[in-house]
Formats: sequence, C-alpha cells, structure tokens
Amino acid sequence: MIPGDDGAAARPVEARGGPSLVIRRRNESELDECVRVLAEVHRRDGYPMRWPASPVGWLAEPALFTAWVASLDGRLVGHVGLSRAEHGDTAAALYGEDAAMVSRLFVSPAARGHGTGTALLKVAVREARQNGLRPVLDVLATSVSAVALYERLGWRLLGTADRQWGPDQVVVRCYAAPA
Ligand SMILES: CC(C)(COP(=O)(O)OP(=O)(O)OC[C@H]1O[C@@H](n2cnc3c(N)ncnc32)[C@H](O)[C@@H]1OP(=O)(O)O)[C@@H](O)C(=O)NCCC(=O)NCCS
Repeated sequence: MIPGDDGAAARPVEARGGPSLVIRRRNESELDECVRVLAEVHRRDGYPMRWPASPVGWLAEPALFTAWVASLDGRLVGHVGLSRAEHGDTAAALYGEDAAMVSRLFVSPAARGHGTGTALLKVAVREARQNGLRPVLDVLATSVSAVALYERLGWRLLGTADRQWGPDQVVVRCYAAPA
C-alpha cells in the first residue's frame, strides 16, 4: 500500500445519468467477486489474454500498492489497481523514474458505457499523483475498447513494443496519463 493511503472509505463519483456509481478501495473479502467479473471479461474480451493459474494472486500481485472496485447500484462491476513499476513493464521503462503502473482495469461487459472505466482510471491517477508518482500503463494493441478509452481521455502514447509474453508474441501500446 502506498504510504499515506487512507483506508477504505467509500467515495461516490459522478455517474452519467441512471445507475449510481461508487468507487472505493477493494477489500480482501471481495476478491472472489472480482474474479467472477474478471472471468466474464476474459470470455468476452480475452482480458487477461491467458487466464491466470491463480486469478486471486493475479489481482493481488505483490507489486500492487492498492486497488479499487466499482459498484453500480450496489453490484460490483469493475476493478483497477495501481502497482509499483517492475522489470518487464514497458511503459515504465520508456517513461523512466517515478512511474507507477495502472493495472488490472476491467468492467463487466453488461455494465459498460456508464463512465465506470473512466471513474476507475481517475482514482488510480489521483492516488499516483498524491504520492508523487506518474501514472503509466501498458495495454495490448488488440484491446480496442481500452485503447479507445485511454486516447479519448488524453493519455499520451509513449511508444509501442513487441513483447514475448510466455508463449505469446504480442504488441503493447504504452501510455502516460495526461499532465
Ligand atoms: C476499457 C473498459 C474498462 C472501459 O469500461 P467502461 O466502463 O465501458 O468505460 P466508460 O464507460 O468510462 O467509457 C467507455 C466508452 O465507450 C462508450 N460506450 C457506450 N456504450 C458502450 C458499451 N455498451 N460498451 C462499451 N463502451 C460503451 C462510452 O460511452 C464511452 O465513450 P464516450 O465517453 O465517448 O461515450 C472496458 O471496455 C473493459 O473492461 N475492457 C476489457 C478489459 C481491458 O481491455 N482492460 C484494459 C487492460 S490494459
């Protein structure tokens, strides 16, 4: 957890119209529910590209500073993390020191288009900045909806890279949050 993290207070954010959207820090007891949503996303979007041997471990990766969940009308529908940059994080390598990785962003297919992804990104960016870090991320070039979201929100393309992820040859696009 990032120094200065202030715990798990619920923080309502603006929703576009209809359903009420709440973003708050993830509790450990919610990990199974996050995995259920992640499985829907994996089936629909192929994210993550390979289903992890331990999905809970993937969501609670050792480099994680903190993570948030989104609820729409009381139902958990989305997730994002903020992590320490590690070897293999291309955006951080391109950006340099002080980068923090925005990671594990996903929204349930049925809940999309209500601003949830935008709101999750916003809290992760704010937390990074409050801790003097610059938010960056890697995204698969094939993750079309995510790439469209980052570019619409003004994230700056740092570069693209061919990477070998286990048996998979992939192209990643690397972004930095707008200044
Ligand atoms: C990328 C992702 C998180 C966006 O979530 P979201 O909650 O739909 O995001 P938002 O609602 O904030 O913005 C999505 C945009 O698509 C529009 N949209 C409208 N209906 C939509 C629908 N049914 N599905 C998706 N997007 C829709 C939204 O209005 C918005 O665009 P606009 O502001 O120009 O209108 C989600 O698509 C996702 O989980 N993708 C798969 C996982 C993934 O690739 N993660 C990235 C890892 S790096």
